[in-house]
Amino acid sequence: MTTEGEKGGDASAIGVAVVTGAGGGIGRATALELAARGYCVGLFDLSEEAAEATAEQARWLGGSTLVAVGDVASAIDVDAAVAATAARFGTLDAAVACAGIEMAGSAIKIDPDQWRRAFAVNVDGVLNLARAAIPAMSPGGGAFVAISSDAGVTGWRGCAAYVASKHAVVGLVRALALDHGRHGIRSNVVAPAFVETEMTERIFAGSEELRGDYEALIPMGRFADPTEVARVVAHLISPEAAFTNGHVYMVDGGETAGLHAGRSEPPPSHRSRI
Ligand SMILES: NC(=O)c1ccc[n+]([C@@H]2O[C@H](COP(=O)([O-])OP(=O)(O)OC[C@H]3O[C@@H](n4cnc5c(N)ncnc54)[C@H](O)[C@@H]3O)[C@@H](O)[C@H]2O)c1
Repeated sequence: MTTEGEKGGDASAIGVAVVTGAGGGIGRATALELAARGYCVGLFDLSEEAAEATAEQARWLGGSTLVAVGDVASAIDVDAAVAATAARFGTLDAAVACAGIEMAGSAIKIDPDQWRRAFAVNVDGVLNLARAAIPAMSPGGGAFVAISSDAGVTGWRGCAAYVASKHAVVGLVRALALDHGRHGIRSNVVAPAFVETEMTERIFAGSEELRGDYEALIPMGRFADPTEVARVVAHLISPEAAFTNGHVYMVDGGETAGLHAGRSEPPPSHRSRI
């Protein structure tokens, strides 16, 4: 199902993008950042209410939007959203795969259906967007960005399906970069550490102390604001990143720069030199 934003297509727009998971968290921040920069944006989400709320905010920023409701795990839904965006705004320059779900459980304990759902959303969802969007991009080129995670480059305890699915996103995007770079289509990954979103609220609900432990793992001592991730996405799809292809861009406050770098105290002989 799709609904059009009031302002419609805009000849002065700098590009057309489709964003999955645009109703919340990083996807919402990305959609709003792109709208503020002058993109026409197709907003895709499971929740019509959430996507419409993003569209309303985008209108305040002067952005043109189209809302499409569906599940990224469904190729039919994603195809329809991409086709509607390209038809509405006349072209497609960028696609951003933000929709994703957290999934708790070790590989031994996780329910097989939950394992499959994590891969259906986190991996097939990215694949479905790539398969719909890349052929729809103009011959002049385009850009694809997928949100993986720090869990896509390093292991985390207690969430095997999430870790495995986010590693798969990195591999998939590297393959896209190799296969489509010669056609001018750049594909990159953004890999954040914890971000202040609804997902993070759910994960740490009722455990402020544990949240503090995780913040201490990050050398900058805090979680990211979604806009800090969105701005990296906006950079990667822009001409400023014209030769960036197949890259995994960590937005993690330095978390993965060193083993337990945020938490460990330097040895006494080094402390006075920091
Ligand atoms: N929040 C974090 O700390 C964090 C860190 C690293 C990576 N990520 C990744 O960033 C992405 C966005 O996370 P977030 O924190 O913004 O999540 P969120 O739960 O706050 O928002 C996700 C949005 O995606 C939508 N969505 C979920 N499943 C969907 C589906 N099957 N089809 C269509 N839409 C769907 C939701 O309705 C929601 O609007 C995810 O891929 C997540 O794994 C998040």
